[in-house]
Amino acid sequence: MFHLGKTVQLSTATAVRSFHTSKAVFLFGSGVIKEGATLPNHTLFENEPKNKVNTKDLFAGKKGLLFGVPGAFTPGCSKTHLPGYVNAASDFKKLGYDTIVCVTVNDPFVCQAWAKEHKAEGKVRVLADPDAKFTKALGLEKDMTAVLGNVRSSRYAMVVDDNKVKKVFVEPDGTGLTCSLSNSVLDAIKKGDLAK
Ligand code: BEZ
Repeated sequence: MFHLGKTVQLSTATAVRSFHTSKAVFLFGSGVIKEGATLPNHTLFENEPKNKVNTKDLFAGKKGLLFGVPGAFTPGCSKTHLPGYVNAASDFKKLGYDTIVCVTVNDPFVCQAWAKEHKAEGKVRVLADPDAKFTKALGLEKDMTAVLGNVRSSRYAMVVDDNKVKKVFVEPDGTGLTCSLSNSVLDAIKKGDLAK
């Protein structure tokens, strides 16, 4: 990130992007939401289509974690990613991070079944982004048509404080199980390795 003057963040249909106002230094990069940016507001669904959740209400006045997965019931998401956050929920809570949200491009009924199977209730809220609008607004969509049938989400995790993104971890290949796992995020929080 260049700090030559005032940086402005624009929320577009697909990403939050930054550009420089005094010099023509454009930072379009990968389009992934930047640390320091505000989370975009979109509607997600919890358990059923009638239960709408506005993303701006998830972390208003709260510290928490948001992680995204390629899909409910896929092996990496089911064996490693979601259980890691369910198991670490109390550790995050002790550090003041009491809201943990998982977003996946699936329908709400699938999310409900997946959350139930992993006993996520009270620990991780599994929210559906069926049309991938929120995921696209984060710049984290990934075309997995060949394998999963449609556009899904890259695997990622974010530390969020009062709707501000304090740290972003995106798996380099979109699906790997490294920096976005609960232990990596917990370490970063413990080290204070977060944006101001
Ligand atoms: C997974 O194991 O999480 C996975 C499998 C196929 C595509 C994407 C993710």
